[in-house]
Amino acid sequence: MKRQEIKEILKSDAFGSTIKVSGWVRTKRESKNVNFINLNDGTVLSNLQVVADVEAFGSELLKKINTGAAITVVGELVESGGQQAVELIAKQIEVVGEADPDKYPLQPKRHSLEFLREIAHLRFRTNTFSAIARVRHSMIFAVHKFFTEKGFFNIHTPIITSSDAEGAGEMFQVTTLDMANPPLNEEGNIDYSKDFFGKKTNLTVSGQLEGELAALALSKIYTFGPTFRAENSNTSRHLAEFWMIEPEMAFYDLNDNMDLAEEFLKYLIQYALDNCIEDLKFLSDRQQQEEKNKPQDQRSMELIEKLKFVAENDFVRLTYTEAIDILQNSKPAKKGQFQYEVKGFGTDLQSEHERYLVEKHFKKPVILIDYPANIKAFYMKVNPDGKTVAAMDVLFPQIGEIIGGSQREERYDVLVEKMKKMDIPLEEMDWYLDTRRYGSVPHSGFGLGFERLITFVTGMGNIRDVIPFARTPQNCEF
Ligand code: 4AD
Ligand code: MG
Repeated sequence: MKRQEIKEILKSDAFGSTIKVSGWVRTKRESKNVNFINLNDGTVLSNLQVVADVEAFGSELLKKINTGAAITVVGELVESGGQQAVELIAKQIEVVGEADPDKYPLQPKRHSLEFLREIAHLRFRTNTFSAIARVRHSMIFAVHKFFTEKGFFNIHTPIITSSDAEGAGEMFQVTTLDMANPPLNEEGNIDYSKDFFGKKTNLTVSGQLEGELAALALSKIYTFGPTFRAENSNTSRHLAEFWMIEPEMAFYDLNDNMDLAEEFLKYLIQYALDNCIEDLKFLSDRQQQEEKNKPQDQRSMELIEKLKFVAENDFVRLTYTEAIDILQNSKPAKKGQFQYEVKGFGTDLQSEHERYLVEKHFKKPVILIDYPANIKAFYMKVNPDGKTVAAMDVLFPQIGEIIGGSQREERYDVLVEKMKKMDIPLEEMDWYLDTRRYGSVPHSGFGLGFERLITFVTGMGNIRDVIPFARTPQNCEF
């Protein structure tokens, strides 16, 4: 007999039919004559209740059916008055894999998220983490669906690279040299010509520069790949390894770029509402439980309400300079409540400033544009004022920056001058400059941090909980 999945079984009304199901035991409740087994196979949040007659199966078998054990049941599907519309009256039970109840770490009780991070290899078996995994999958699919429907092409950009795309960020080095005894050159420095690639290489911090090459031929492309940053940021919003979606479009200016970013985010959020509502309701309850002890004014908006709000309202768009003005005149600035002072034009905004604008001032997602040139990457287009660039950051409640992007500098001379000023080695970037030498066009793009999106959509408080196996400073388990 073919195994059926619980997602389908729970929707079935084939009462009286015999079916086969397999999964992991979540809980077992014993009464005098029967055992009630809650079975989950991960295809859906809800469990299927299996009813096992004590006399028919005997205590020898039933005592092996503990939380965490894997079982296969053949039984009769019947209508139920319980939580679900159906339940299964067991006729045969096979214990596929036992789980010693004295040792299994995931007992059926509330575990802290910190503890679950330590047993990330088992946390998929909890409601919270299986819900997150399903939502994450839906969002991956929605990303590809959105861009495919719009005629974008997905491009795989390299993971190992010899260029430092952002001109700043700390990178992870990739090498096969013997660290204890590296080859040295005449000056006594490490001789990278002896390294695997004949030069120094790193893990990529962004696929953008290679994405630009493709966009200047295919018109509209996007990348969706892993990115690596060796910043020592131990925050609830930073990972050392995360996934980024980077669309790049020829003949798009900054306004077109903003329109696309806003449409994209709303599409993804609406997709989650339309396709993941059972998991989102569960995650909403979880969040509200967690926030019960917080004072009223620090609690976040109910998850589904919050998602609808973002999907249905226009984002606010303003310049960096206007934002600085608002921040300097804000209550927290006047009362000295910001940890980092807003000193005026040139201040790099911190997450507390971004969140003030979004959560307190506008109470809506915000797109900030036209940042000071010297706090942004070399490739951003210089505005006519000469001191700002056509950058855009999309700021979200709870998250702060969720998207960073810009119109790109397409003018060869301006770009070269800027690169010199920012100490970007021109010889190494000659391939990039070729796009500005031959058939250069205005173009734009942005990067969406996938885990920041999932943090927002699931209402989780820490980015480490929305990627299966988080990589953060001093932490690379599994
Ligand atoms: O703003 P960033 O650094 O922009 C770029 O890398 C550009 N090359 C993108 C482009 O224009 N194609 O990063 C983009 C986004 C951020 O807005 C944030 O959502 C996410 O990537 N991000 C991180 N997410 C998790 N952990 C980190 N350490 C992150 N750093 C950036
Ligand atoms: Mg950024």
